[in-house]
Amino acid sequence: KEAKLWGGRFKEGVTDAVERFTESISFDKQLYKQDIKGSRAHASMLAHQGLISASDRDSILEGLEEIERRIENGEFNWRADREDVHMNIEAALTDMIGEPAKKLHTARSRNDQVLTDFRLWCRDAIDGILVSMKQLQVSLLTLALRNEGLIVPGYTHLQRAQPVLLQHLLLAYVEEHCVYDVFIVVIILKMYVLSDLFTHLIKEVIRILGRLVDCRARMNFCPLGACALAGTGLPIDRFMTSEALGFTAPLRNSIDAVSDRDFVLEFLSANAITAVHLSRLGEEWVLWASEEFGFITPSDSVSTGSSIMPQKKNPDPMELVRGKSARVIGDLVTLLTLCKGLPHAYNRDLQEDKEPVFDSVKTILGMLEVSAEFALNISFNRERIQKALPAGHLDATTLADYLVNKGVPFRTSHDIAGKSVALCTLKNCQLLDLSLDELRSINPVFEEDVYDFLGVENAIQKFVSYGSTGSACVASQIDYWMKKLEMK
Ligand code: ARG
Repeated sequence: KEAKLWGGRFKEGVTDAVERFTESISFDKQLYKQDIKGSRAHASMLAHQGLISASDRDSILEGLEEIERRIENGEFNWRADREDVHMNIEAALTDMIGEPAKKLHTARSRNDQVLTDFRLWCRDAIDGILVSMKQLQVSLLTLALRNEGLIVPGYTHLQRAQPVLLQHLLLAYVEEHCVYDVFIVVIILKMYVLSDLFTHLIKEVIRILGRLVDCRARMNFCPLGACALAGTGLPIDRFMTSEALGFTAPLRNSIDAVSDRDFVLEFLSANAITAVHLSRLGEEWVLWASEEFGFITPSDSVSTGSSIMPQKKNPDPMELVRGKSARVIGDLVTLLTLCKGLPHAYNRDLQEDKEPVFDSVKTILGMLEVSAEFALNISFNRERIQKALPAGHLDATTLADYLVNKGVPFRTSHDIAGKSVALCTLKNCQLLDLSLDELRSINPVFEEDVYDFLGVENAIQKFVSYGSTGSACVASQIDYWMKKLEMK
C-alpha cells in the first residue's frame, strides 16, 4: 500500500472499511476543474512571493495542465486510497513531476483548498441555473404571447374567485423566477436616489433582488490561505490568489473561512424556494390537465402512458417536477442538520456538504429544463375554458365595486352583492341574468349601467389598479418582461 501524504506519524495504514467509509473521491472528483484552477493560482502566488522558484512553478503548471487533459480524456486513474480530489491530484502531480510538486501544498491546507474549490463550483453552478431560469421565463412568456386575451377563472381556496387573464397568471410564474439584474437596478437606484422615483424604485429593487444573484455575491470571497484554521507564518499574498480566482476579496477571518457553510445554506435555500415554485406550477398544470378541469392539453411529446390502461396519457414530467422538489428541500435540510452541532473550525462531517449540493443543482436544472419544455408543449382548450367561465359568479366582486362607485359603503355593497348571488343560486342563473327589477328588489340603487359590470368579459375590463389583471396592466407587464428577457 502507498503511504498517505499525511502518513509521517502513522505506523499502520487504515483498514479497508475505514478507507471505503472516509473516501470522498467517488463524488468530489467533480471539483477537479476548480481544484486545478485553485492550485494554479496558488503556485503562481507562491512563486511571486519567493516561496518557490519560477522553474518549480512552471513544472507545477505544466503538470497540472497534463493532469487536466488526462481527466478530461478519461485517462486519469482516480484512487480511493488517495481519499479525495485534492490528494489525488497532488499525488498524481508528484508521480509526474517529482520534487516541485511537493512544494505546492506550502501554506495551504485541504480545509481552505476544499472551500476554495467548492465556492468556485457553486459560483459556476449559479451561473448555469440563472441561464436555465431565464429559459423558463422565456418559455412562460412565449406561452403567454400565444394566448393573448384568454380569460380563465382565478381561484382562492381552489374555489372560483375572480376572472383573470391567463397572461396575468403566467406572468406571476415569471415573477417568481425573477432572480437577476440586481446590479443594474442598484445602479438605477443610485442614480435616482434623490428624486421622487426613490420610493417606487426601492419597491422595484425588493421585488427584483434576486436571491441567487444576491447569494452569489455574498459567496464570492476567497478562503485560500486560511490554511488549516489559523493562517500561516509564511509570507503569502491572499489578495493575489483571491483576485486571480475572480473573488471579490479574501475572507477576513481564517477561522470563519474554513468553518463557514452559510454560502451553501443560502444557495440550497434559494434552490429549495425555486423547487417549491416549480412544484406549485406542476401541481397546477397536473390539475388543469385532468378531465375534471380540462383547461390544458399537453402534447404527446411531454406525456407518458400506462402499462395497463391503454387510454391513459399522463402529465408525468410535471408530476416529477412536483416530486423532485422533495429532494431539493431535503438537500437543504441535510445541510442545516449537518451544520447545527459543529464546533468551529473544520470537522470531517463537513465532507458531507458536497453531495446534497451536487444533487440539488442537478435536480433543479432538470426541473427548470423540463418545466420550460412543458410550457412550450401545452395548448389551452379555449372552448372548454369559455364554457366554464359563467359558473361561480366570478363577477360578484365587480358588482360590489359597481355599488361603491354609486356611493354605497363597501361593507353594504358586499352584502347587496351577496344577496344578489343568493338570488342567483335560488334561480340557478348568473348575475347578468337577473332583471333590473329583481336587482332593485334587493336594493334600489341599481341602474341600467349595472350590466356594463356583469359577465366575465365586462368584469375583467374594470380592473385598473397597478399590477392587476386588467388588459392594459397586463399588456404593460408583458411589455416589461419582453424587454427584460430580450424578446424584442
Ligand atoms: N475531503 C475533505 C472534505 O471534503 C477535504 C478536507 C479534509 N481535511 C481534513 N483535514 N481531513 O471535507
